[in-house]
Amino acid sequence: MNSTSVEAPLTETAERRVVTGTAGATPESKWVIVTRGIKREYDMGGEVVRALRGVDLAIARNEYVAIMGPSGSGKSTLMNIVGCLDTPNAGEYWLNGQLVSTMSDDALARVRNKEIGFVFQTFNLLPRATALHNVELPLVYAGVSSDVRRRRAKEALEKVQLENRMDHRPNELSGGQRQRVAIARALVNDPSMLLADEPTGNLDSQTSEEIMRVFESLADSGQTVVMVTHEPDIAQHARRVVVLRDGLISTDDTRDAFVARIGLGTQHA
Ligand SMILES: Nc1ncnc2c1ncn2[C@@H]1O[C@H](COP(=O)(O)OP(=O)(O)O)[C@@H](O)[C@H]1O
Ligand SMILES: [Mg+2]
Repeated sequence: MNSTSVEAPLTETAERRVVTGTAGATPESKWVIVTRGIKREYDMGGEVVRALRGVDLAIARNEYVAIMGPSGSGKSTLMNIVGCLDTPNAGEYWLNGQLVSTMSDDALARVRNKEIGFVFQTFNLLPRATALHNVELPLVYAGVSSDVRRRRAKEALEKVQLENRMDHRPNELSGGQRQRVAIARALVNDPSMLLADEPTGNLDSQTSEEIMRVFESLADSGQTVVMVTHEPDIAQHARRVVVLRDGLISTDDTRDAFVARIGLGTQHA
């Protein structure tokens, strides 16, 4: 039969499978994160703990992804690798088209400072510095002139709706406002990815919703967001939920599929 076959467009899942399955190939520019068979083992005096046992993960620009899983499933280990704080024992990690899994510590630190904005459970703000100064700090370290620093820190604070609190110190701000300052600080370098580790771990549920609204609006404006959490209520705010179990990805769903499967339903803000 004469086939003038037009190739069917790959589904997102199939597309991810192709990019994670092609060892050695530089991913196209749409992929911020590609891991291929990532393994990380810890040697505990003769006994080997296999924290990650072969993780294939592809995250495209502008995705908003939650990485969820029970304690000990490998979330922090994966986050450390994705955040260029650690390197795997085996497998490839490509960040924005650069193979970072084999980089030296110095090279890794340079990539980390340029590409990744971290948000932590404990906001890690300087207590004596104003919100504006806290947000400016990464630019001070980067040697940016004070005029440019100020302008960019103000823009970052506007993105988290805190422009009217710029001159306040952390102890003059609510928990949610402090975390928003920390988010602005993470954004000030214009990173390719915002990487948040349990960003609502120290916040009550109402304040957690406030932070989830900030992430939502950042994702809407095109920021790639990866958030690690053990809480399904928080994970369901992301648009895609990857669940880790025993060092492997056990499920990788859209938000709707995730919510339907675990039966949250009543938790929407
Ligand atoms: N530095 C380390 N040394 C030894 N074992 C570790 C280390 N970090 C994590 N582990 C082990 O690796 C597994 C995964 O841990 P982790 O990535 O912290 O999981 P999670 O963040 O999901 O709780 C656990 O069994 C943990 O005990
Ligand atoms: Mg952890």
